[in-house]
Parts: sequence; C-alpha cells; structure tokens
Amino acid sequence: MTKRLTVPDIRARKGGVPLVVLTAYSAPFAKILDPHVDILLVGDSLGMVLYGMESTLGVTLDMMIAHGRAVVKGSGSACVTVDMPFGSYQQSPAQAFENCARVLADTGCQAVKLEGGAELADTIKFLTQRGVPVMGHVGLMPQHVHAMGGFKTQGRGEESRRKVLADARAVAEAGAFAMVLEGVASDVAGDVTRQVAIPIIGIGASNECDGQVLVSEDMAGLFSDYMPKFVKRYGDLAGELETAARAYAEEVRARAFPAKEHCFAPNPALVDVKKAGK
Ligand code: KIV
Repeated sequence: MTKRLTVPDIRARKGGVPLVVLTAYSAPFAKILDPHVDILLVGDSLGMVLYGMESTLGVTLDMMIAHGRAVVKGSGSACVTVDMPFGSYQQSPAQAFENCARVLADTGCQAVKLEGGAELADTIKFLTQRGVPVMGHVGLMPQHVHAMGGFKTQGRGEESRRKVLADARAVAEAGAFAMVLEGVASDVAGDVTRQVAIPIIGIGASNECDGQVLVSEDMAGLFSDYMPKFVKRYGDLAGELETAARAYAEEVRARAFPAKEHCFAPNPALVDVKKAGK
C-alpha cells in the first residue's frame, strides 16, 4: 500500500522540488490524478465548476464533506486538503474548530484550507494549536469577491503589495503548513515566496512559488465557461466528451447500439418455446 504524503512532508518541501497540486471533487477524478500530484485540493470552486454557481459563496459544509469523502476514497497517496466554505469559520475560532473538526472526521482528509490574511491569524493559531492542519489562502480570495469588488489581481501598488506580504507572514506565523497565493503580481509572489518560511502554492502568481495549483477542469479543458489568464490547458476533455456523446447519439438513433455483444443472452426457456412453435 502506498503511504499518503503527510502534512509534515508537504511542509518540508519549502524551496525544494515544486509541489504539484490539482483540484478534485469526485472519486474517479481523484483516482486518475492521485499518482501525479502531491496534494489533491477539494476546492470550493466546485460551486462554480460542478454546480454552475456564480461564485463560491453558496457552497455549504455538507457539500464539501460529501465531495471530500469521495476524493479521500478515490485517492491513496496525495495529501487531501478540503476547503472550508464561506461562513463556516469566520465567526469565531470556536466555530472554526467545530466545523474543521467535522470535516477532518467525516472525510478522512489530512488538512483544511481557509481563505484570509492577518484578520484570520488568531483563528488559524487556535486551530493549529489544537491539531487542525491549516493551509492558508491569501492574495485574491474568491470568498471575498464582493468585498474586493470582483476577482481582481492583488499586489499592484505599494499598499496592496504590503498587505499581501503582511497577510502571508501573519498566516505563516499563526501556524499554517502551506499557503495558496492567488492572483497576485508576479514580483510580489516572488517576494512572498522568499520571505515566508512555508511552501507557497501559486495560482496566477508566478513560477517562483514553491508549487502550483490549477482547477483540474481548467487544466484538462473540461470547463470552458470562463478561462482566466493564468490557466494553461493541457487537454481537451470537453471536445472528447462531445465527440463521444455525438457518436453515441448517432448509434442509438441508427439502432447500432446496443450491439449483440452488449446484450444479455436470450432467456433459454423462451428460445425453447419459440423453437417448438408454441
Ligand atoms: O477553490 C479552489 O479550487 C481553490 C484553488 C483554485 C486554489 O481555492
């Protein structure tokens, strides 16, 4: 049995071979991606990617638990990290602990991810001191979409640059074992990576980070509603699925599917009756 990568294994990768991180929301995806990644992230991006929501704000704890459990079941070596959805951890450290403990216990995942900077440091400290492994998420924080006035690149201008750096330092000092850095100017991503002692996992950051994460559906060309600048497509799953669906539809309409080999043998009793001309 392959041993799963642990939180300390991930933490120890600071400055080493870049961490490979992809999102997964289901057991079949997890099974395919698992051998290729260090971390499988059950991101709350599933609200948009799977459920057609306009933002991640409507994602619930129950949704994250159901998908988190599926990803743990489908994988065997990646460190599975589950996003805490909006509203499940911001109210107080006690609320955060109760919900994070539920996610860890009900899914079997290794860690949880929380969005937030310096304002969340006390909560992260409270959690990590009580045995909850926390991955941070700073820079562009999709759960803050309305507060930020949209999905806007962070770290442009001196004030924003200082805020991103201060947020990243606060989250690391509070005890996070790694951090996603999303949608920031590339020089700021380099500064954060050099100045913060834990692995920085970039998305729309730069290749100076300690690792990279992408939404798998973006990476494999399955989700085409919107393509951010920082996405590179490594496949055309949408095209493949369309080709397969078209071929299936044609064969069903032409009665070419199912063929004999897809059907069960006729009931012998009825064949005998027919043969006997009854
Ligand atoms: O929700 C998500 O998938 C994420 C990644 C894009 C970092 O937070």
